[in-house]
Amino acid sequence: MTSRVRKAIFPVGGMGTRFLPATKAMPKEMLPVVDRPLIQYAVDEARAAGIEQFIFVTGRGKSAIEDHFDRSIELEASLEECGKSSELFDLRESVLEPGNIAYVRQQEPLGLGHAVWCARHLVGDEPFAVLLADDLIQADVPCLRQMADVHAETGGNVIAAMEVPDEHTSRYGIIDCGGADGRVQPVEGLVEKPAQGTAPSNLAVIGRYILMPEVFAELERRETGAGGEIQLTDAMARLIGHQPFHGFAFDGRRFDCGDKLGFLEANVEFALARDDLGPGARDMLERIGDVSP
Ligand code: UTP
Repeated sequence: MTSRVRKAIFPVGGMGTRFLPATKAMPKEMLPVVDRPLIQYAVDEARAAGIEQFIFVTGRGKSAIEDHFDRSIELEASLEECGKSSELFDLRESVLEPGNIAYVRQQEPLGLGHAVWCARHLVGDEPFAVLLADDLIQADVPCLRQMADVHAETGGNVIAAMEVPDEHTSRYGIIDCGGADGRVQPVEGLVEKPAQGTAPSNLAVIGRYILMPEVFAELERRETGAGGEIQLTDAMARLIGHQPFHGFAFDGRRFDCGDKLGFLEANVEFALARDDLGPGARDMLERIGDVSP
């Protein structure tokens, strides 16, 4: 079995209820941070980590994602005609190689674990990545690249981890690392959305995973967990002790773009970090600071 991670799953079958009505007719993953949809950031991150095959698990009303990664011949022709070469370059950059992109439908949004399981035949018997586009990560070295490097050293499963405050642990999958320290920690247990005060640590699982294909057999049981959903965390937890399993405190900053304030913050920070928009964004924030009470 190859240990290089060549395939990535992008689960985009969720309902995005926290962003209604924006997500009524448009997938959450197409919400733009500055001028690029969330899914584009995730795909670019995967490309930078050496991913060659891109598997989208979609649902109803997600066709805008397919169109986004497809060529738009008419648009390209009109940009060419108007001499808009930089826009044309960006547009062409976002298109994935023919044959390297696949879509599989999750017929019902039964949970993240179920979405990942829907891609089992396309992944086959090799390690693979999962990226949740609504977890946007700003980093000098793209997060999945960092994780692929860890995976090359440790083998097995590697999941991205981040410290969260005590009062937020009930919103995440939480890692029990037996009190170990350091950037790469062996995982001893995982619990999805622990009740307040029962979390084994403050280390939360973030939406980047490198997983071994054995997780599909665990997902096959279709057992439901927290929130009545088929949870990826529960299936992963059953692999602990049978294969290497590490949590990785990545270098970078994560924005929860499935949440309105997190999304707003991402837009501001990504604008501030850009050469073309940073100065204007800084002026704007100062003006807002001047008028707010
Ligand atoms: P969320 O928990 O954010 O759910 O899913 P959601 O439906 O997208 O959004 P809200 O909470 O209703 O606002 C985390 C990730 O898992 C995917 C989502 O698309 C998102 O990337 N997902 C979730 C699926 O692909 N299928 C599911 O059945 C559930």
